[in-house]
Formats: sequence, C-alpha cells, structure tokens
Amino acid sequence: MKYLIANWKAQMTLMDIMNWTSAFTKDVKGNNQLLQHLQDKKLQIIICPPYPFLMTINEELNDLPNVLSGAQTVSSKEEGKYTGEVTARALSSISKYALIGHSERRQHFHETDIDIKEQILLSKKALIEPILCVRGTHDNVYPEATLIAYEPSDAIGTGNNAEVADVLKMKADLKLQSHVQFLYGASVDLPNMKGYLETGEIAGLLVGTASLDPSRFHQIATHMI
Ligand code: PGA
Repeated sequence: MKYLIANWKAQMTLMDIMNWTSAFTKDVKGNNQLLQHLQDKKLQIIICPPYPFLMTINEELNDLPNVLSGAQTVSSKEEGKYTGEVTARALSSISKYALIGHSERRQHFHETDIDIKEQILLSKKALIEPILCVRGTHDNVYPEATLIAYEPSDAIGTGNNAEVADVLKMKADLKLQSHVQFLYGASVDLPNMKGYLETGEIAGLLVGTASLDPSRFHQIATHMI
C-alpha cells in the first residue's frame, strides 16, 4: 500500500474545507481507476487539517474508500491539567493517524526528541499510527514508528524539492528496519512526484502546498497509481 498525505498546516478555514472536500469528492467519484485503487487498499490517503476540522474531514469524505483524517501533532502529555492540549486518547476516537515531529513543530514550538518520543509512545498506546517526520540523521527514529517521512527542512515550501538520489541516500543512512515504510515530503508536486515513486523505494509522499488545491491533489493521487 502506498501513502499520500496532505498536510494543510494552519492554512484552511471551515469554508475552505467545505469547498475543498466537495471538489475533491466529485473528482475522485469520477475517477474509477483511483476509486478502485482506494477500494483495494493499494493507496491510503490521509488528510491532516487543523485540529477543529478533523471531524469535518471524517464526515465530508466518508463516502470515499480509504481516505482518512490525521492530526498534525498530538500532545506529549497523557492526561491532566494541560490547557490547550489534545491527548492521543482524545484523538483516537476521531483519527487513526498523526504527524509527529514535523520540522515546523520542532522549530516554532520547540518540540524536543523527548517530547516526540512521548508523542509516539502515547499514540501507539491509543492505537494511532504515528507518521514520524525527520529532517535527517540527526533526528532520532524510534522502533515504534513504522511510517517515517523524510522532510529536509530547507526544501519545505520552497518549490525546490530534494534530489531523488539524495532522498535514497538518506533512506540508506537512516538504517531503517525492513518493515518501516519510508516516505518523502518537501515541495512535492505533479512535475516531480514520479521521480520518487519510480524508484520503488519510497512508499509514499507527504504534500503541503500542492495539497491545498483539490484538483491538484486529485491529480497527484491519480499519479500515485
Ligand atoms: P510543502 O510542505 O509540500 O509545502 O513543502 C510539506 C510539509 O511541510 O509537510
């Protein structure tokens, strides 16, 4: 199974999301080949909206097979008096995936390796699949995380995606266990995505900017099959 993940960051309102989901649903429903792939679980699409809209994604995309919501982060606290936090246990009734350790969380919100390890362990305990984002070999990988997304921070949001050869070298340098699925993200778009997939070494793509437009994201999904 391949993974296609949309990371909307803090860039969508409820109105934007209603428009996005109706356009995307229409596109996917008119694409029998893509629908079949989703139905056969050859492709998993995970949409990561801002927290308040996880349920909206569940409801609005309920008709599409194998399209699920995911959180953009989760608390490193298990439970308690932590104003503003969303625990993995609370999230688990809504979403089955969570991005963990995205470079923007590490940079702007000072998430440390200790936080990230807790987030992974608490996610697993709550039966949420963590998608661990790493910027390179200086970021820890943990055996509990079986989805690892390599996202070189200097390539995120720039339009300058990383060279396929460099991504493959990073995969080798990370020395991942054989059951771990390796994903790539950072300026992924229609013109460059094939290069990653053709290697047969990259199990999926994490898409930020290019996922904000539903028809572009639909085209990207179409090229995953
Ligand atoms: P980008 O974002 O596709 O805009 O580079 C990717 C990400 O940050 O996950």
